[in-house]
Amino acid sequence: MAIVRVGFIELWVRDLEKSLEFYEGLLGFRLERKEGKSAYLRGYEELEWSLKLTQGDFPAVRSLGFKVDERGMEEAQAWVEQEGLPHRLETDWGRPRMLRVQDPFGYPLVFYAGAEKLPRMLQEYHLYRGPGILRIDHLNLFSPEVERATRYYQERLGFRLTEYTEDEEGRLWASWLHRKGNVHDVAFTNGEGPRLHHFAYWLPDPMAILKAADILAGARRTNQIERGPGRHGISNAMFLYLKDPDGHRIELYTSDYLTVDPDLPPVR
Ligand SMILES: [Fe+2]
Repeated sequence: MAIVRVGFIELWVRDLEKSLEFYEGLLGFRLERKEGKSAYLRGYEELEWSLKLTQGDFPAVRSLGFKVDERGMEEAQAWVEQEGLPHRLETDWGRPRMLRVQDPFGYPLVFYAGAEKLPRMLQEYHLYRGPGILRIDHLNLFSPEVERATRYYQERLGFRLTEYTEDEEGRLWASWLHRKGNVHDVAFTNGEGPRLHHFAYWLPDPMAILKAADILAGARRTNQIERGPGRHGISNAMFLYLKDPDGHRIELYTSDYLTVDPDLPPVR
């Protein structure tokens, strides 16, 4: 299937203002629209919103969004019908064509083709706030059946494996799968699921990761720094794990590597 990349995530949060104080106020996300119980945010490189926060009674993951091209939209439609997966067409702000589907593992996927463009902010440096979050990079999903989910995402959705870990018996324990040409758009991690382990945003460089830690420290919010700054073995990226006010885990991430070669050997 012609999936281009991970495109957005929608989260339910218990207190929208409190969440905006974290995402917009501390992390510097651009708040592009507030409508009813929802807010739409993006990083400075993005031409489309990538984070939607919706006030709900409890914290939850509402949507895991993937951008597709026109052919991908048709392929996605054919796939859900062929597999008999629960699905419906939806629209959202600036997104006229969205296909919501519950995949066979229970993840709430949304495929969308065209999207309305927002003004280009990349070089408006005087308007940057926080550490300068650029773009959504990946989703990390807990799954009790990593092996099956990995194979399915490779064979049916066209993802490519870049790295994986195995247990002593050679069973797949975690996998990193990409479409866009870096280490991952989606990772599966062994654990109770379907659940989100974290979602990640790309920053320009490791100094920006340190700056994010400094900002949280300055705001006396070190309790929301869960782990890092550090370098991952897997992916080679610099990272910082944060918990938002509802306990949703966001990773700030930078400096992994190029994976576009079709014959790239996965790293065990
Ligand atoms: Fe990650």
